[in-house]
Amino acid sequence: MDGNGRWATARGYPRFYGHIRGAARVKEIVRFSRETGIKALTLYAFSTENWKRPEEELSVLWKILKKYLKREVHELKKQGIRLHVIGEIDRLPKDAGAELKAAIETLSAGREMNLTFALSYGGRAEIVEAARLIAKDAVKGRIDPARITEADFAAKLFTAELPDHGDVDLLIRTSGEMRVSNFLLWQCSYAEFDFPEVQWPEFTVEEFRKSLGLFSSRKRRFGGV
Ligand code: IPE
Ligand code: MG
Repeated sequence: MDGNGRWATARGYPRFYGHIRGAARVKEIVRFSRETGIKALTLYAFSTENWKRPEEELSVLWKILKKYLKREVHELKKQGIRLHVIGEIDRLPKDAGAELKAAIETLSAGREMNLTFALSYGGRAEIVEAARLIAKDAVKGRIDPARITEADFAAKLFTAELPDHGDVDLLIRTSGEMRVSNFLLWQCSYAEFDFPEVQWPEFTVEEFRKSLGLFSSRKRRFGGV
């Protein structure tokens, strides 16, 4: 979800207003995804690099997250949405962390769609953590290093409980930037990419439909012919 700040600045608003408008898009996109039958939606809301931002902007972001959860959790439950978080959640402010934990608990029975927030998330850190876990298993003799498969490894990633171990079908990055920026590096191996020019606050359901249309038109061969 990129471009909140630029969207606001270009219109003479402070950056935080872009985040507020961006959160409104999150609400719509989540609902639409569920209605349209998408089984998993992962939103990159905050990267490990985003900690470098000024304190005021960070506090607004956590406030928006708490508000979103408070306001939406009942609706999400009604819709059968399950919530996950990937990333270094221990680094989040205590109140935001507590709100997330409560929401995850409330939504734990959801079976219609998996909604994942990537918060203080980095793809390399996730892979290193999986390597640590596998190494521990090997030291304890629970797994033979010579027999470690891709599936064994994927089962140690944050996304292990998602459908197909979190393999990404379609990655959308708004704002015209054509970078992956440390997002789901392992899981994007065979992902299709879309880089719409619009900023995240402009990413309406209409724009999302365009991305989905593009995805439908792609021929996915997964290395075959
Ligand atoms: C995306 O918008 C939201 C977050 C990363 C929290 P940005 O804040 O990155 O907006 P730009 O890229 O500065 O325009
Ligand atoms: Mg950005």
